[in-house]
Amino acid sequence: MPHVARSITRSAVALAALAAVTAFSFGGWATISVEDVPESLRVGQPTTFRFTIRQHGIEPLEGLNPSLAIRSADGKSVVAAAASPDGAKGRYASTFTIPRSGDWRVTINSGFGPSKLTLLPIAANATGVSLAAMTDTERGKHLFVAKGCVGCHIHRAVDERPPADMGAPELTSKAFDNGYLALWLANPRIRPATKGGPEMPNPQLSQKEIAPLVAFISSQGRATASK
Ligand code: HEC
Repeated sequence: MPHVARSITRSAVALAALAAVTAFSFGGWATISVEDVPESLRVGQPTTFRFTIRQHGIEPLEGLNPSLAIRSADGKSVVAAAASPDGAKGRYASTFTIPRSGDWRVTINSGFGPSKLTLLPIAANATGVSLAAMTDTERGKHLFVAKGCVGCHIHRAVDERPPADMGAPELTSKAFDNGYLALWLANPRIRPATKGGPEMPNPQLSQKEIAPLVAFISSQGRATASK
């Protein structure tokens, strides 16, 4: 009875679509965190992005169909790429090739409700080597987006915003001791969670990501570079 099977499939699809729409309002949001964000891209050469999708910034989500859309600065070219599971639970990889030089913005659609992430522009050129190396502060700004901090925190130096109020403090003009900040980013359990608020999940950063993030947060948005 194939028609029965088909209608079951169809209602399952309808239910899934409904779940995707309602998931968000019931807290079904996810953060996206990219590994080894490149400082530049090489024209005509495949680049692979690896990223992890975590529900509420915590639980890795498997079985999703994420996709990438990489747009040129003038918005005239869009490179589309699918992503597939990559080893660890909730980790995906996507490979794409940039057709010409210029600045490109990568958007990762999680495939989990409307949760998505658009990175800051990355320059593509013939060599794939960034001509002027980024300062720690600039790199930290890129990482603040790419590591998914923007999924919970507002920082006015970047345009990505949390989808709703996540109970996380705005970080635009917050001042911290740099040593404390580095310890916090390595493990937010160094102090008890603020009473009545959510805990910050461990953002799973590497040491080489922590120093630039500290530099960026400590700059309190005074960094002028546009990327
Ligand atoms: C899933 C949501 C979430 C994500 C993702 C997240 N944070 Fe947080 N963050 C929080 C919450 C909630 C608090 C408040 C915790 C508390 O006070 O107990 C917080 C607090 C902070 C603080 C203040 C610490 C203090 O002692 O006042 C800093 C700095 C911070 N986060 C930086 C980051 C950075 C950088 C990233 C990305 C690498 C990040 N956060 C990712 C939720 C998040």
